[in-house]
Amino acid sequence: MHIENIVKKLNLNDGCIEGAAVKIRKLSELQECFADETAYAAALAEGDKVVYSVSSIEPGDNGGDLHFGLGMIMPGRIGDEYYLTKGHFHEKREAAEIYIGLKGKGAMLLEDELSGDSRTVEIKENTVIYVPGNTAHRTYNTGSEPVMYLGIYPADAGHDYEAIKCKNFNCVVTATEAGPEMKKRSDYQK
Ligand code: F6R
Ligand code: MN
Repeated sequence: MHIENIVKKLNLNDGCIEGAAVKIRKLSELQECFADETAYAAALAEGDKVVYSVSSIEPGDNGGDLHFGLGMIMPGRIGDEYYLTKGHFHEKREAAEIYIGLKGKGAMLLEDELSGDSRTVEIKENTVIYVPGNTAHRTYNTGSEPVMYLGIYPADAGHDYEAIKCKNFNCVVTATEAGPEMKKRSDYQK
């Protein structure tokens, strides 16, 4: 056993796992993630807000180990696009992941690497989402309070941010009068 304390408490008030390191992502670190570059520059000029944080437990990388992280995305928008995570593939492409929604309301954007096909699924309390391998995944906060979720993934999955950063996701999730809607990036940018 290489995890000292096998019971971890989730603090859903501040989005942390007790005793875990917290990685904070501010607006300035999300250059080229949002579709509307003008709205992004204007928002950044007003202040470098915290967009999301991840509090992770990474007990080791011994064959069958698992890692897990509590994600918290703040509510907000850049243009019509909701606050989001960078998004990534797993370095080990076949590595799947389980997301468990805990609080708030969000959407996961899933993009298949081979076909380029996109879909969104709602993430909220009491929802489990199975993110298959070979799938880029990005999470949005589509609500008005922080959205929180637990991601559980193989310890040797690794994170590849570069592959998706080069071309970005094919689709965006935006606010419309009818609620959150996925549209092609090229259609949003028109
Ligand atoms: C881990 C995972 C999540 C994300 C978190 C932040 O594999 O998918 O815990 O790390 O949602 O998103 P990224 O890592 O894209 O900044
Ligand atoms: Mn992942």
